[in-house]
Formats: sequence, C-alpha cells, structure tokens
Amino acid sequence: MTEKRAFSSRLLSCLIAISMFFLILSCSLLFRIGDNSLVPTSIYNLIVADHVSVDPIDPINPIGPKASSCDPNQDVLKVFMYDLPPEFHFGLLGWTGGAWPNVGNVSEIPRYPGGLNLQHSIEYWLTLDLLASVTVTPNVVRSCTAVLVHNSSQADVIFVPFFSSLSYNRHSKVDGAETKSANDVLQERLVEYLNGRDEWKRFGGKDHLILAHHPNSMLIARWKLGLAMFVLADFGRYDKQIANIDKDVIAPYKHVVRTVDVNKSPSFDERLTLVYFQGAIYRKDGGVIRQELFYLLKAEKDVHFTFGSAGGGGIHKASAGMSGSKFCLNIAGDTPSSNRLFDAIVSHCVPVIISDEIELPYEDILDYSKFSIFVPASDACKKGYLMKLLRGITKEKWTEMWENLKKVAPHFEYQFPSKPGDAVDMIWKMVSRKVKPLHYKAQRKNSFKTSLQFLNSR
Ligand SMILES: *[C@@H]1O[C@H](CO)[C@@H](O)[C@H](O)[C@H]1NC(C)=O
Ligand SMILES: *[C@@H]1O[C@H](CO)[C@@H](O)[C@H](O)[C@H]1NC(C)=O
Repeated sequence: MTEKRAFSSRLLSCLIAISMFFLILSCSLLFRIGDNSLVPTSIYNLIVADHVSVDPIDPINPIGPKASSCDPNQDVLKVFMYDLPPEFHFGLLGWTGGAWPNVGNVSEIPRYPGGLNLQHSIEYWLTLDLLASVTVTPNVVRSCTAVLVHNSSQADVIFVPFFSSLSYNRHSKVDGAETKSANDVLQERLVEYLNGRDEWKRFGGKDHLILAHHPNSMLIARWKLGLAMFVLADFGRYDKQIANIDKDVIAPYKHVVRTVDVNKSPSFDERLTLVYFQGAIYRKDGGVIRQELFYLLKAEKDVHFTFGSAGGGGIHKASAGMSGSKFCLNIAGDTPSSNRLFDAIVSHCVPVIISDEIELPYEDILDYSKFSIFVPASDACKKGYLMKLLRGITKEKWTEMWENLKKVAPHFEYQFPSKPGDAVDMIWKMVSRKVKPLHYKAQRKNSFKTSLQFLNSR
C-alpha cells in the first residue's frame, strides 16, 4: 500500500516536473525575438513600437545597416505626403531638378542654408526622412519609424511638405512693385490647396501635420488651419485655440554649436566657468528678466554673462564657452524657448531653465529634472538666490546630471539619414502617439454609426 502510494507520488512529481519544463520552454519560445518566435513580428513591433528607449544610442552603428527601403506593413506611422509643387519645399532651396530630389544619392540633396536658419530646419529633416523611407539606399541606415504610403486612406497622418520657416526667413520682404511677400502668397495658396482636398475634408485637417517651427512662420495660414497638428518650437505666439499641447508637437531647435564628443566631454573640474550665458540681453516681452539677471550676476567672478549674437564667430565662441562651463542659463527671451537650451544639452552643460512658459520637447518621456535645473523667474531675480543655489550643487550631483546629458543628447540631433532615437525619430514617435487616439475615436464613431444604421434598418 505504502509502496503504491510512494510510486504514484513519484509519478506525480515527475509529471509536474515535465509540465514545468514544457511551460518554461514555451514561455521562453514565446518571448524570444527572432524568426522562430511564436509571436508574429508585427505584434512584437506593436509591443515595442511605442516604447522609446532613453538608453545611450551607439552613434556609430545603432542597429546595423538596413539595405532596403522600409516595409509599410511593419512600420509604426504611415504617412501620406501631398505632392505640393517644389516652390513650397525644395524649390525654396534653389532645387530645379523635378518633383523631389533623389535622396538615394546624398550629393544630389539640396543643402539647407546654414547659420541661424538651421535652428528651424525641422521641415527639411522630416521631409528627407520620408523620402528615404521609400528609397532603396544601399549605404543609408535609417530607423523606419515613419513610412510614406501612396494611398491617403491608408495613412495615419497627412504630411504637408511646406518649408514654412525657410519661407519666413527668406521671403517675408515685399519686393518692389509687389503688394504681398512671397511668404504670404505661399500661405494663401496652401490654405486654398488644402481646403480643396478630400483628405482635409475627412477630419477637417485634424490628421494633418503642418510644420511651423519658426515662431513667425505661418502667421496668416495658422488661423485657417488651426485644427491641424502643428510641429512648433513653443506656444508663445499662438492663441490657445490654435495651438496647444493636446494636439501639437513641440520639437527641439537644431542646435548651432557643435556636439561635444561623449568620450571627450570636460568633467566638473575641467569646466572652469560656473555659469554661462551669451545672448541678446535686451529683449521685449518675457525677456526683461535677462536684464535683471545681468545686473545681478555681472560682478560674480566665475560667471560669463555677455552680450553677443550667435552670428559669425559667435557660434564658435559659444561652443567653447558652453563646453567649458558647468551650468548654462536658458532665460526667456522674446519667445519662451530658444536654441540655447539645445546648445547646452549637446555641450553637456547642465541647463538652468529660467522661463516659466517654456514647453519642452518629449516632455512625456524625458524627465528633464534628471539633467537640468528649473528656477522660477521670480526666485531667480532675488538677490543672491541663483548663485547660492548653483554653488550649493555638489560635484557628485552635477556629475550625475552630466552623465544623463550625455545619454539624452542624441535625442536632440537632426541628421540625414536619421538614426534610431534621434530628433527625427523622436518627432515621428510623438506624432504617432498623438494621431493614434484620433483614429481610434473616428473608428469607434463609425462603428457606432453602423450599429445605429443596423438597428434602424431592422
Ligand atoms: C551622385 O550625384 C553626384 C552629383 O550629381 C554624381 O556626380 C554621382 O555620380 C552620383 N552618384 C551615383 C552613385 O549616382
Ligand atoms: C486605397 O485604400 C483604400 C482602403 O484600403 C481602398 O479601398 C482603395 O481602393 C485604395 N485606392 C487605391 C487607388 O489603391
């Protein structure tokens, strides 16, 4: 009797062991990524697509070369791009070679003008990336977060390829006998074009992506296209109805100083200046605080606080100044944001943000407090407050923020070809998060309608 029981209990534990073995085996198979995975790749992509890594990205070889164009069935964001005439985009760069440049050959791509124009060149990098998504480019590595589709009813978002910042920077002046600037004319024509499109009428433009990174770009058209999703630097010059964080995307400026090499970034002791600020000191609107801070800080010995524009040798000086400083001030100017913040980030100079109205790019996924310091304007203007705060930050604390800056800096790079985790990639991911709920709602409304129709027809 006892032998029989011992046998059956041994059998039982044997069975348990075997089933445990199979359970573990199937689990490991299920979660393994690769061609043999039991999870279809498309589902795996769905799981990981929305997750944005904040880990450092290998700048040399992020995912290994990808020889073909992107696969629309796998990629996250499907984008339809209007075939606007070149005068709205590459024509503004002097391009005369047909509808779109061949991005398969980098030397055929027209260059964006340098200097301060580049700050707002977001339009250029996003458009190039879309073109690259359907171009077989043997030597080009890109992340395939967004892919161009040719049928607008299959698109998640409709892209309007108007280089509005360049149009503002280059064509705002009224020439001779003309009564309107070329920038105004292009905006009017764009509004007319969009209003005539079925894609626009579908959601009243809600699923359209319009780039207006320069705060003065789209000054006319913004009032008529206000339901669209804008890519902006900040909301400073916008009415809340027209632009807000619920529907729009804040994109970083393209930094103008050179990126400091992660392996050669000066450490705490190597950065001899404590606080750095260079810029225009007298600004209108929110910028009066610059003046107040200037008078408070100018006598401090380890503070560099000077007038200066970024033009000419200014950019070079700012590069050296920021990478030689521990803290870089980012003070509200005539708009809440400026390229200075992004210059500080790529210089690994801990940003001190004194701008109460500022909107930060990727704020929902990046915790800026891990690598910057926020000071309310009212506190910063108290005598002695700022210096006491910054002198009180220990070497250990500063180094922790510096390490984080080195990690997040790649998220602020605009480049072609785009790389996983860079600014172009991050913007597509933000757009993706904004449009998905829109389509979900539209879908639900439609299925609700159909079920009502179904009920009524009975
Ligand atoms: C790329 O474009 C340049 C300039 O137009 C041209 O000289 C070169 O032959 C092109 N390269 C290829 C591989 O087509
Ligand atoms: C575009 O896509 C829709 C929906 O998938 C389809 O019904 C339509 O036939 C497609 N149009 C073309 C021209 O392929």
